[in-house]
Amino acid sequence: MSSTTNKTRKIIVTQALPYANASLHLGHILEAVQTDIWSRFQNKSGNECLFFCADDTHGTPVMLKAKELCISPEDLIKDVQKDHEETYKLYDINFTNYHTTHSDENKKYSEKIYLKAKKNNLITRKTINQLFDEAESMFLSDRFVKGTCPKCGASDQYGDGCTKCGATYDVGELKDPVSAISGTKPINKESEHVFFDLPKKLDVLKNFLASADLQKPITNKLSEWLNDDLHQWDISRDAPYFGFKIPEEEDKYFYVWLDAPIGYIASIDNWATKNNKDMNSLWSADSDYEIYHFIGKDISYFHGLFWPALLSGSDLKLPNGIYVHGFLTINGEKMSKSKGTGILAKEFAELCDPETLRYYFAAKLNDKVEDIDLNFEDYVQRINSDLVGKYLNIASRCSSFIEKNSNALSGTFDNELIEKAINQKEAIEACFESRNYSKAVRLIMDIADLTNKYINDNTPWKKDIDEAAQIATTALNVFNILSIYLSPIIPNITSEAFKFLNQEKQSFKDIELYLKNNINKYKPLLKRLEPIVIPEEKPMSEEENYINIDQFADIDLRVAKIKNASHVDGADKLLQLTLDVGDLGERNVFAGIKKAYDPESIVGKMVILVSNLAPRQMKFGLSEGMVLASSDDEGIYLISPDSGATPGLRVK
Ligand code: 2FM
Ligand code: ZN
Repeated sequence: MSSTTNKTRKIIVTQALPYANASLHLGHILEAVQTDIWSRFQNKSGNECLFFCADDTHGTPVMLKAKELCISPEDLIKDVQKDHEETYKLYDINFTNYHTTHSDENKKYSEKIYLKAKKNNLITRKTINQLFDEAESMFLSDRFVKGTCPKCGASDQYGDGCTKCGATYDVGELKDPVSAISGTKPINKESEHVFFDLPKKLDVLKNFLASADLQKPITNKLSEWLNDDLHQWDISRDAPYFGFKIPEEEDKYFYVWLDAPIGYIASIDNWATKNNKDMNSLWSADSDYEIYHFIGKDISYFHGLFWPALLSGSDLKLPNGIYVHGFLTINGEKMSKSKGTGILAKEFAELCDPETLRYYFAAKLNDKVEDIDLNFEDYVQRINSDLVGKYLNIASRCSSFIEKNSNALSGTFDNELIEKAINQKEAIEACFESRNYSKAVRLIMDIADLTNKYINDNTPWKKDIDEAAQIATTALNVFNILSIYLSPIIPNITSEAFKFLNQEKQSFKDIELYLKNNINKYKPLLKRLEPIVIPEEKPMSEEENYINIDQFADIDLRVAKIKNASHVDGADKLLQLTLDVGDLGERNVFAGIKKAYDPESIVGKMVILVSNLAPRQMKFGLSEGMVLASSDDEGIYLISPDSGATPGLRVK
């Protein structure tokens, strides 16, 4: 598309709302990065793209997690939302608004959408028989019933399917069922539930599948479900349930999957109110916006069938498309805590610059529903080879020749190479648009290869200042173009690159503008990655909860004196400590105590060091041990020995 025929599009995108019972893992980041790159690309190519998200807060898992932690669900979801937002920020996910489904806006829209469906004769009722936990006085969803698989006899299987043989079955068929909550044997109990009349929306859904932008395998799967399996959809749950009460009903709550997608609209409404925007133009029957949902393949049914049916039931706009990605595997395996592959997104951000993960995901993502593997070796190799060795190498090789030319770029340069880079614009844009980021990355790195070859062939180090500056100016113009192409993927590094080049924030339409200004001194924008070692975490069984005296003796605790303490550039939580550990010498430790201590105030303080903890490579350097501290909501408290203790003393 040429820029003259390209009218500005208005677009709304969403990613799936993360569930509010746990921290984010790298799978969440994969989806966020996929959506964020697309949204940044749209904005950088002249369209308006708004990106909305929220925490998904209702339902039994949140209720049970809060119970386990002895806090209210409200407190739990507040803490989790803060944690989620902090984590997304680390990965530079640029939401237009981040909200919660436990909000006034969501309650308002859930009620409105439901009552409209009711008015449109889409709500029915039916008495169902369900397992009931008498000890907890609650109905049990299939996930909270465990028992023996009726097909293969494996014990400890869920009510809806067997993890051993893969069979799915009705909870009634499970042998020897027990409640996963209280461990007691559930009874059968009747309850009247409220249903959404999905079959009445058959034609709407057929139409949706035919007209929406969907991937082929998703259309096929949804059509299969549509033709075989369209039941009334149970949208109510009985008390106790953490959620919204259904209007005009006694003690019934909306099932979490009813109000979760409505959370997209609620987040938009929350933003519209804060920013004086008209909700009618954003999401109504005649919205001005194209709407796209980015989701994982496991929730296609909800987004491809329930959600459009629900929207149509209340005369709201249906999404223009649903973009589905596969699961994330790590080193070829499903994520699992015990194998060290269930690493949390926040922990990973301590090990590597999060932008490098954005790049790696981009280098692997396409428009398919295939699973994506994060292989740590390949990751380190890829970042060091592409970002450090190809892209940034251009800037670091060329900057010295411009510096020698009084920081001035040359007025003459070699147009041929620059034209080649510019000519790839449409191809690269098409890759971003169609979510073939891996192909975009390939095209971009091909240009970086050509540029490095150009520098090698022209040997600026053998030339006089003038000629060397011309060669470097040519290469830096391409570096600028590469930075624009890469900006949706690595926004931070490229924004530093633009600062180095003395350029305003750049968008795709600026691709043909040649560099004019003097440039700044080049500072390395990314360090080479070291091999990644994930600290292993093994889940403990009951017997393993104790450690024995030998295990305790294995921990070498030492008195240490803080010789020096300083802030760490780019770390919100860490202070860098130099510790005097007597006969063990000096140690460098990064400690997460910044929020409680000024560096100056702790110099000279005695602390306790776990001295034989395996050194850990962090992105700021090597941490050689850990200092002991306790913490609560109010603060962090370093543990100190009584006066008289000297550096190096063993703590036993
Ligand atoms: O699968 C999940 O994690 C859900 N919390 C996704 C909800 S997406 C939307 F419908 F809210
Ligand atoms: Zn089985």
